[in-house]
Amino acid sequence: MTLLSAKGLHKSFGGVRAVRDISCDIPEGTVFAIIGPNGAGKSTMLNLISGVYQPESGSLTFAGQTLAGLPAYRRVRLGIARTFQKIRLFKQLSVLDNVVAGFHVHHDIPAWHYLLHGGAFRRDQARCRADAMELLAFVGLAARREALAGSLSYGEQRMLEFARALATKPKLLLIDEPAAGLNAAEVDSLLDRILTTRKQGVTVVVVEHNMELVMNVADRILVMDYGQHLFEGAPAEVQKNPAVASAYLGGELM
Ligand SMILES: Nc1ncnc2c1ncn2[C@@H]1O[C@H](COP(=O)(O)OP(=O)(O)OP(=O)(O)O)[C@@H](O)[C@H]1O
Ligand SMILES: [Mg+2]
Repeated sequence: MTLLSAKGLHKSFGGVRAVRDISCDIPEGTVFAIIGPNGAGKSTMLNLISGVYQPESGSLTFAGQTLAGLPAYRRVRLGIARTFQKIRLFKQLSVLDNVVAGFHVHHDIPAWHYLLHGGAFRRDQARCRADAMELLAFVGLAARREALAGSLSYGEQRMLEFARALATKPKLLLIDEPAAGLNAAEVDSLLDRILTTRKQGVTVVVVEHNMELVMNVADRILVMDYGQHLFEGAPAEVQKNPAVASAYLGGELM
């Protein structure tokens, strides 16, 4: 079953046509990678899916429902979560509180109830903290729970963003260059965590330049170049496609 369907998406910034006529169907329960040279439009695609931008034309449907006009926070509630190419954490909050913040998008209790009904607040808070601790253990940060997010290493911050995105209990997780700045061991752990996330039923869209990671993790790959669709296929097909190789000038692609 298709979880996310994009049809003929267009998005420009001034004179730059960042995304031109992109269509793709992302099957539920898969890892779908978007690759391409710098400026190809990959992050813009994630921004269109997550609702940071609205397309000038084209359509997006998620689990059969149109996303047209829905702002980003409404899409999070539908089950679309993301991380950012440039890390965005609450750097002055603890590691644990950063993940707890992710749970709040699903709170059925309005914020003012927290003030009036301390008991409900504390029960809810305890449950959130327990769930958050489980996610921190998953990303290897349980021991760092009391540290300030801003004091973590770059690789740890990326993992914290991953955990915070999972805290929103997504059906679709969008991750933008999760391996950027990670060392080899951290990339291996990331690969395992993406595959475990998929196994748990979450569909993953990953934008990434690390081809070893992409080739090992993706079920399908969309290759973009200058905003356009260059190729889509399984990893083995992408690796032997001449148009893809020439877009990368034989450089980055394995
Ligand atoms: N907010 C914006 N304002 C102006 N131009 C933008 C904006 N966002 C993206 N662009 C432009 O759109 C094009 C596509 O950018 P995008 O960030 O989607 O590329 P990318 O494939 O993610 O590249 P990278 O691999 O370098 O992250 C680029 O030319 C970029 O400069
Ligand atoms: Mg980008």
